[in-house]
Amino acid sequence: MVADIKKIGVFTSGGDAPGMNAAIRAVVRASIYYKKEVYGIMRGYEGMIEGDIVKLGARSVGNIIQRGGTILKSARSQHFRTPEGRKQAFEQLKKHGIDALVAIGGDGTFTGLHLLHQEFNLPVVCIPGTIDNDIAGTDYTIGYDTATNTAVEAIDKIRDTALSHNRLFFVEVMGRHSGYIAINSGIAGGAGAIIIPEDGMSFEDLYAILKPGQETAKKSNVVVVAEGSKIGGALELARKVAERSSYFDIKVTILGHLQRGGAPTYFDRVLASKLGVAAVEGLLKGQTDVMVGIQKGEITYTPFDVFAKGTHAINEDDLRIAKILSI
Ligand code: F6P
Repeated sequence: MVADIKKIGVFTSGGDAPGMNAAIRAVVRASIYYKKEVYGIMRGYEGMIEGDIVKLGARSVGNIIQRGGTILKSARSQHFRTPEGRKQAFEQLKKHGIDALVAIGGDGTFTGLHLLHQEFNLPVVCIPGTIDNDIAGTDYTIGYDTATNTAVEAIDKIRDTALSHNRLFFVEVMGRHSGYIAINSGIAGGAGAIIIPEDGMSFEDLYAILKPGQETAKKSNVVVVAEGSKIGGALELARKVAERSSYFDIKVTILGHLQRGGAPTYFDRVLASKLGVAAVEGLLKGQTDVMVGIQKGEITYTPFDVFAKGTHAINEDDLRIAKILSI
């Protein structure tokens, strides 16, 4: 144990994700278990700069494991990107006696934490919390499972109405530059085609998949499109198919922020609980400037310089399976 850590600060930053509350709860309770004080920093780096910091106890995080969103709130801070902003943030941490940090968020959050560590030698550990599942060094990020289940539920519902009206639907899902939500919600939702940025599928390839429907009178179909698609989003693809053929009655649904809310699944709650405890234990054992993750079922600590340079690639097999099943 590293004895000189006395007060741990925890915060959430970037896009919220279901399961962040479960992670906050785990960080708070593990800190108290190891006899450390723990402070919640509100609104990510914005609250850090402003000194919006509250002491938390084991009971402050009761009844939140099942709640979506984040009780500590979140923000994307421009001010923190400047050296002055970071200095101000560090002064606030010093004022509260906070001598170590745990951040729950995505790659932008981690870059900020890395800078704080470099500039002020503060022990820091990151927990991956984003629906996008786009971070190297962990097989899963907190919130991805819930968001994908939400997308699957939506696709199932859309399929009902698509079938009833013989319509072709383009359903756009989130994921920023990553196709993880799209590929797996598409497989689970039985999509007729899945468009993700990692795949080289062209518009012509997509049209070639849809076109046989005209011969077989298969009018209803669901195409799942990742928001990061390189051949256009759901609206654009729908417009292009409509221009090419009047056979299909086409509709578009963009799921958007719906995927960020709701109660976390059991998977995300357990993942968040494990990573939260491991983050505190890692800090107390001297881990710093690392992200705690789960790889092949094991807890791992990956240095910032390693995971920041990597990408969380889509499993080639998933792509292959999706293509086999959508014939
Ligand atoms: O990173 C999570 C995410 O929901 C992405 O999937 C999406 O591209 C982005 O955040 C949306 O950001 P905002 O909530 O700021 O609109």
